[in-house]
Amino acid sequence: MTLLNENYLKLPGSYLFSTIAKRVAAYKQENPGKQVISLGIGDVSRPLVPAVVEALHKASDEMGRAETFRGYGPEQGYAFLREAILKHDYLDRDIPLEADEIFVSDGAKSDVANFQELFDVSCKVALQDPVYPVYLDTNVMAGRTGGFENGRFGGIVYLPCTEENNFIPQFPKERVDLVYLCSPNNPTGSAMTRPELKKWVDWATENNCIILYDSAYEAFITQPDVPHSIYEIPGAQKVAVEFRSFSKTAGFTGTRCAYTVVPKALQVFDRAGKPHCLNALWLRRQTTKFNGVPYVVQRAAEAVFSPLGQAQIQAVIKGYQENAQVILQALRSAGLIAFGGVNAPYIWLKTPKGVDSWAFFDKLLAEACVVGTPGVGFGACGEGYFRLTAFNTPELTQEAARRIANLKF
Ligand code: MLT
Repeated sequence: MTLLNENYLKLPGSYLFSTIAKRVAAYKQENPGKQVISLGIGDVSRPLVPAVVEALHKASDEMGRAETFRGYGPEQGYAFLREAILKHDYLDRDIPLEADEIFVSDGAKSDVANFQELFDVSCKVALQDPVYPVYLDTNVMAGRTGGFENGRFGGIVYLPCTEENNFIPQFPKERVDLVYLCSPNNPTGSAMTRPELKKWVDWATENNCIILYDSAYEAFITQPDVPHSIYEIPGAQKVAVEFRSFSKTAGFTGTRCAYTVVPKALQVFDRAGKPHCLNALWLRRQTTKFNGVPYVVQRAAEAVFSPLGQAQIQAVIKGYQENAQVILQALRSAGLIAFGGVNAPYIWLKTPKGVDSWAFFDKLLAEACVVGTPGVGFGACGEGYFRLTAFNTPELTQEAARRIANLKF
């Protein structure tokens, strides 16, 4: 008899986006003639930009010639990409990091999911509610929680993000070891300003807590008082790990490339109170469990930082930002209250009185043939809310918006 990891049994049903995909597939089968538009999972619709495609071709050719072929690369990423990230995303913003504090990976989802294994199972975790399900589910799998009751896991400290607090989390009232923050936020589309984030960095410093900071959506920031990196805040290198991704920034959801910053100043402690460098531990973990991102993909990611690549991806991002405005306007014409969409590709709407998140999902699918994500799928505080994404094409976003604006509630 082989025993399983029973923590897996605590997880309710399937992963949120798999559940939705199944429901949409069933609807399409029952309604074959209908054009369903997805504003659901945050997957991009625009192709890779030409500068990236050219780099992919060139790197593929190199892989086909004996003198330029590459086998295993460095697990933590090739120097050319780490240096490009360092320069563009940090040094040019006056953030003094070093290339060996940057770890290239195949996705922010996997990094954010894997990172928790560096911490003791007894570590107390705080996270926003609603929240990107990966932070929570991976801590459940690791055994850091109790069971699931009334929409919440025992042992987790939930930080409600509601209309009352502008979807910005307040500090936990009890001692926690780790806190996940996501800004610009998935799913609410809210973003912390510099003073708001500074309060969190100061709080983490005073309370010896580590912030796991997901800034996968920083490319969508439009307001100058919203920081792109937590390291814009003095002292953050001692308390925060930052997760970034090329997925939404440069259309790499299928190509897979991301990176995680683990500053060398960040320390964790053994039971005897001796400090250890988190950067060295993550390097140990990655070199053991990961063989790196394909060379061709890293060359493609490098091209994102070329002047041409930057101009091309900015045009794509602008298109998504315009989609967000189209969706916001449609929701308002339908008499709905909506948030987000200014510094993020997500729009967080309040469902009409008496209509819960899943009922709204069903109504939107049946009456407008539009797919979104029920807020409750992101946590108990998401009940009564619904998420739409700005990642579809302008044409389909406009069509979805037209259908939504005509809905009667
Ligand atoms: C989402 O829709 O929340 C995202 O696409 C999920 C992800 O990035 O893994």
